[in-house]
Amino acid sequence: MRLDKFLAISSIGTRKAVRDFVKQGKICVNNEKMLEPSIEIDESKDAITYLGEDVFLTPKVYYMFHKPAGCITARTDNNRKTVMDYFGMVNSKGLFPVGRLDKDTEGLLFLTNDGEFNHQLMYPENHVEKTYFFWAFGSLDKLDLERLQKGISISETEPLTKPAIIQVIKEGLYDDLKGEMDIGDLINKKKNLYHQKVVCGYLTISEGRKHQVKRMLKSVGCFVVYLKRISIGHVQLDKALEKGSFRRLSSEEVDKLVNQ
Ligand code: URA
Repeated sequence: MRLDKFLAISSIGTRKAVRDFVKQGKICVNNEKMLEPSIEIDESKDAITYLGEDVFLTPKVYYMFHKPAGCITARTDNNRKTVMDYFGMVNSKGLFPVGRLDKDTEGLLFLTNDGEFNHQLMYPENHVEKTYFFWAFGSLDKLDLERLQKGISISETEPLTKPAIIQVIKEGLYDDLKGEMDIGDLINKKKNLYHQKVVCGYLTISEGRKHQVKRMLKSVGCFVVYLKRISIGHVQLDKALEKGSFRRLSSEEVDKLVNQ
């Protein structure tokens, strides 16, 4: 097995992180510093260490988490609440979030200790589809929908986005639809918004650029005020899973995600 693959499935970190560890001289194979991540090792015989500690193949765990708004997607943070704070009761050693949701985004997030699983889902060439439900100020006409579907410019320095799937569910005035929008009191207090148009729908993308959904909708004049990820690949967020709760993924779900 390749050294970087062994390290990733041993829960040391993601494929990218473990390659960096190797290049930084933190990994030894049979007591010799090894600087080449792609070297083949024999995991049944070779002794692998990370900063002097033995590295073993550990049992893999996979969780579906319903991320609430208000926590950041990180393993640790000095001041702010992180997604890991919801995993206090289980052994969260080696666990990390797969990809990232913004602080104000809710919904489906996987956590695992399996760097290979992370790699499979995050590697751009694998085109794993992620579907988001949104509410936004603004409206979407036929041309906007076509632009989102075909690929749109979200910054001067980045290539166009890959083709996306957009489905509008509802459009109308904020005043008429505000009861259905889960956006709290903040906006309800701004009376000047009452006569503005709002739109909700689903956007499915197969990339993971920073703030991608918000930036795509901004490019067609829409300002996202609520965002929730509802599926990744063929796995949907359980409707019964409350915000802040998690459950183990079944082996069938894990297989579906890595072999799609
Ligand atoms: N796109 C965004 O804009 N934010 C997220 O959290 C996820 C996708």
